[in-house]
Amino acid sequence: MRTKKWTLKDMPDQSGKTVVVTGGNSGLGFETAKALAQKGADVVLACRSESKGEAAKTAILTEYPEAKVIVMALDLMDLSSIKSFAQMFTKNYSQLHILINNAGIMTSPYGLTKDGFESQMGTNHLGHFALTGLLLDTLVRTPNSRVVVVSSLAHRQWKISFDNTLFENAQGYNSMRAYARSKLANLLFTYELQRKFEAKGINNLVVAAHPGASFTNLGRHLEGKFLFKVLRPLIIKVLPTPKSGALPQLRAAVDTNVKGGEFYGPSGLMELSGYPVLVKSTKASHNAEDAQKLWTISEELTGVKYGF
Ligand SMILES: NC(=O)c1ccc[n+]([C@@H]2O[C@H](COP(=O)([O-])OP(=O)(O)OC[C@H]3O[C@@H](n4cnc5c(N)ncnc54)[C@H](OP(=O)(O)O)[C@@H]3O)[C@@H](O)[C@H]2O)c1
Repeated sequence: MRTKKWTLKDMPDQSGKTVVVTGGNSGLGFETAKALAQKGADVVLACRSESKGEAAKTAILTEYPEAKVIVMALDLMDLSSIKSFAQMFTKNYSQLHILINNAGIMTSPYGLTKDGFESQMGTNHLGHFALTGLLLDTLVRTPNSRVVVVSSLAHRQWKISFDNTLFENAQGYNSMRAYARSKLANLLFTYELQRKFEAKGINNLVVAAHPGASFTNLGRHLEGKFLFKVLRPLIIKVLPTPKSGALPQLRAAVDTNVKGGEFYGPSGLMELSGYPVLVKSTKASHNAEDAQKLWTISEELTGVKYGF
């Protein structure tokens, strides 16, 4: 039976599990990595800045000296870095129990990844699409493994567009719209991978989560804006901590009652805060035709084929 007020106390022992948390050095990723390490998992912090990763590792070890944490370089804005990460990971580990696709950027000015993709779609969706595909054999080989994809309430604000998926040449670019589109892509990917697993009789799970709202470094591109400056003290006071914001993705990663294709978010008013519970995503996120189109485009752009 699903617990209604799930907290870290409900997290079973994670000893013997290997976990990768992308963006494990900051905000929700850091809290997720710390909680899993505290419960005995071997945690890989997959970070674009190795120095920030090492600082996060030190912070975890200071609190939990027995924790097993390592840092590995991963830049989701660079396919060659994603390939190197996957090669290094598969050389060193034969199993991957939990992959948490957590790293992300929000409302950044128009920019391109090293491979020429609009940066929010490139980081938040395409980078994780490539990473998951390159780790797929290891994930599938690991009994009961899970992929957890961190989306956002923002997915509700947009539909996917295949005319101009990557805002080519900045045409029609709006930083919030691009973020919302990438977070919708996270959900289309989650549900499609789960469908593909089921069609192949693969028992591993793909689950999505969203944190509601937490004060983290995600808002860095809003910091300079007048309204944000004025409201900052209030925002810090009102928004839930990253520790509570991380609960939906942690529940999605470890609760034994979780099923593939589910979506977890906070239980409170407008899903902004609260205990992690099963929540609903938009109709657009469940559109299987759009999901397959996005899949094909993602394989073409990244060159990573899942073989389904
Ligand atoms: N905070 C919220 O209210 C909220 C709401 C909805 C959804 N989310 C989602 O939650 C996830 C975590 O965000 P957060 O709030 O914890 O933000 P955060 O504190 O800014 O953490 C984001 C993490 O992603 C990493 N990252 C960014 N670009 C990367 C790249 N190219 N390669 C590898 N890592 C990269 C960052 O690395 P650096 O430290 O080096 O920048 C950082 O570790 C995101 O997917 C976000 O969309 C957050």
